[in-house]
Amino acid sequence: MGTRRVLIVATGAAALMMFALVALPEVQAAPASGASQVTPAVRAAAVWLASPETVEPSSPVAFVGQSQEDGFVGDEECRSCHPEQGDSYDLTKHARELDARTPAGTTGCESCHGPALEHAEEGDAALINDFPLMSAEDVTEVCTECHNRGEQTFWQGSQHNGRDLTCTTCHSVHAEASDKAQLVKSTQTELCGECHQDKAAKMLRANHMPVREGKLECGSCHNPHGSANVKMVRMGTSMTANDACTECHAEKRGPFLWEHAPVQENCASCHDPHGSSNDRMLTAKQPMLCQRCHAHTRHPATIYDDNNVATSSRAYGRSCVNCHQTIHGSNHPAGKFFQR
Ligand code: HEC
Ligand code: HEC
Ligand code: HEC
Ligand code: HEC
Ligand code: HEC
Ligand code: HEC
Ligand code: HEC
Ligand code: HEC
Ligand code: HEC
Ligand code: HEC
Repeated sequence: MGTRRVLIVATGAAALMMFALVALPEVQAAPASGASQVTPAVRAAAVWLASPETVEPSSPVAFVGQSQEDGFVGDEECRSCHPEQGDSYDLTKHARELDARTPAGTTGCESCHGPALEHAEEGDAALINDFPLMSAEDVTEVCTECHNRGEQTFWQGSQHNGRDLTCTTCHSVHAEASDKAQLVKSTQTELCGECHQDKAAKMLRANHMPVREGKLECGSCHNPHGSANVKMVRMGTSMTANDACTECHAEKRGPFLWEHAPVQENCASCHDPHGSSNDRMLTAKQPMLCQRCHAHTRHPATIYDDNNVATSSRAYGRSCVNCHQTIHGSNHPAGKFFQR
């Protein structure tokens, strides 16, 4: 273990130094030798270094000043024939010219639609990137040229990528329906519910996470672009989804002196994260919830002991948690039975 860590640190440091030696002097030299000599490569490096954000224009051709010889015509041409798309695009982050990472800061319409000199001359839709007609993979390639970090880091190999969804399944560049993130539907529940109907429907049950009320969205717990955790759960890298819950319900995380095994393992053993018809979004009614695992206990685990079904403290109110109140774990010296 120790050796491995040292190795990783050493390799990381070496890589950083290499980067500093090769890239930094070039960038720092640029202002000194005059702005006119800034090459696209230097500018790319400078933009990359200066940007705290996630988007990187990684294409070697995607820079301002493309000439007609390269096959680019420029936005003005496009707008003369497609004014509507020009107007809709102007309202989005992609049109922020001062941000050198955006299409507007690079080759404009053609950052996505590709060099369009021939198309502009012929007016032939086959000579340009026409997204609805492209394969999922080709669309993704256009967008991930820039969007390949941050939220989108785990796109490659994600469950959605594997099932041939692409960026434009959920996003629209010219005709978004949402206030945020240019989605094709006005809410995430509506968007995701198109395919995950059961999950969207559970949000309508009596006990549900406050998604309907607007306090959470599908994207609060999931990263639809893929994640390092199971079930595309946004938080954490553990093999259980618990991090998705303890991010907000931190007091359930512990550590506890007396842990309850299923709580450590998976909150979803007892709670349906999307909603259920039982109190507290429990996956089963009490006391059956507990009896799925605790068939034999020191006291009868059933509610049918003697003839006191109606009055059994295991049957009414909160059932087993009438007594086992600290069911998520306890720090009380009284012992390991989760009673206080
Ligand atoms: C001289 C006019 C003209 C110019 C300039 C022009 N286009 Fe087009 N474009 C057309 C015509 C005509 C079509 C075909 C429409 C059809 O088949 O219904 C078309 C089709 C398209 C399509 C396919 C979708 C559709 O509506 O059929 C896209 C995307 C497109 N153009 C984007 C661009 C972009 C981006 C630029 C600038 C780089 C551009 N166009 C410049 C005339 C032009
Ligand atoms: C960030 C990438 C991107 C940029 C930049 C971009 N487009 Fe598009 N364009 C798309 C996508 C994706 C579609 C498919 C429809 C959608 O998502 O709204 C599209 C669709 C179109 C269409 C076809 C519209 C239709 O209804 O079928 C035209 C025409 C068009 N774009 C023109 C332009 C023009 C003109 C510009 C520059 C002012 C531009 N685009 C900039 C990605 C882009
Ligand atoms: C030339 C680089 C570039 C390309 C290509 C590109 N984008 Fe972007 N995109 C950006 C930048 C830069 C932003 C703004 C990021 C920010 O400010 O956080 C952005 C923002 C977005 C946003 C967020 C909008 C919002 O309101 O928050 C979405 C969604 C998006 N892009 C989708 C796409 C899709 C889909 C494609 C492919 C059709 C695409 N982008 C292609 C650079 C690009
Ligand atoms: C299954 C639907 C879905 C797919 C597929 C998808 N997105 Fe998203 N995307 C979303 C949702 C939902 C959000 C808003 C997330 C949030 O804020 O909780 C979002 C947010 C974004 C944002 C803004 C947040 C940010 O990263 O700064 C960008 C940019 C973006 N997506 C780009 C892409 C690109 C590029 C692709 C293709 C590789 C893609 N998306 C594929 C659903 C999707
Ligand atoms: C409070 C957090 C949270 C919210 C909000 C949430 N989910 Fe989930 N989701 C989870 C967790 C945790 C799991 C994993 C459950 C498990 O391990 O059994 C999951 C699992 C899933 C699965 C995989 C289910 C399976 O059977 O394998 C899908 C699909 C899904 N969610 C879609 C959605 C959709 C669509 C929305 C919005 C309507 C949404 N989720 C909102 C936490 C959430
Ligand atoms: C166009 C259909 C479609 C849309 C829209 C869609 N998904 Fe999915 N999603 C899928 C498919 C297909 C799978 C893979 C299911 C499988 O492999 O069993 C999947 C899988 C998932 C999984 C489970 C991953 C796993 O490990 O089991 C989650 C979580 C999920 N999607 C969340 C979302 C969220 C959140 C949204 C909205 C932002 C969304 N999806 C929108 C089609 C879609
Ligand atoms: C982004 C924050 C957030 C995340 C993540 C989150 N919750 Fe919640 N949870 C809330 C909020 C807000 C409420 C509503 C509290 C209220 O109304 O008092 C709530 C309520 C609950 C309730 C009580 C419901 C009721 O009927 O009283 C349970 C149980 C619950 N969450 C379990 C979970 C589980 C399990 C997960 C993981 C799958 C999870 N939560 C993830 C914010 C979150
Ligand atoms: C062994 C089953 C079980 C597991 C596993 C479990 N819970 Fe619970 N949880 C319950 C029961 C039962 C209640 C209702 C308690 C009551 O009525 O007093 C509850 C209530 C809650 C509540 C609402 C009341 C409160 O105490 O705040 C939240 C929030 C909650 N659980 C979150 C979680 C989280 C987060 C996890 C995972 C770390 C988790 N639960 C794992 C059984 C479980
Ligand atoms: C998914 C299975 C599962 C569920 C559901 C479950 N438990 Fe447990 N419980 C366990 C396991 C495993 C242990 C640890 C047993 C051990 O260490 O011998 C445990 C331990 C306990 C203990 C401490 C016993 C001891 O000897 O350490 C109590 C008390 C307890 N559970 C009560 C409950 C109650 C009350 C419920 C319902 C709210 C419940 N459990 C639901 C699996 C479960
Ligand atoms: C009236 C209070 C009360 C109720 C209601 C109750 N318990 Fe208990 N439980 C106890 C006490 C007291 C102990 C023993 C503690 C000891 O021996 O020190 C205990 C011990 C346990 C143990 C650990 C001992 C063992 O034999 O493994 C489990 C598991 C358990 N209960 C599960 C349950 C389940 C499941 C329910 C609901 C069907 C339930 N309890 C309802 C009071 C209660």
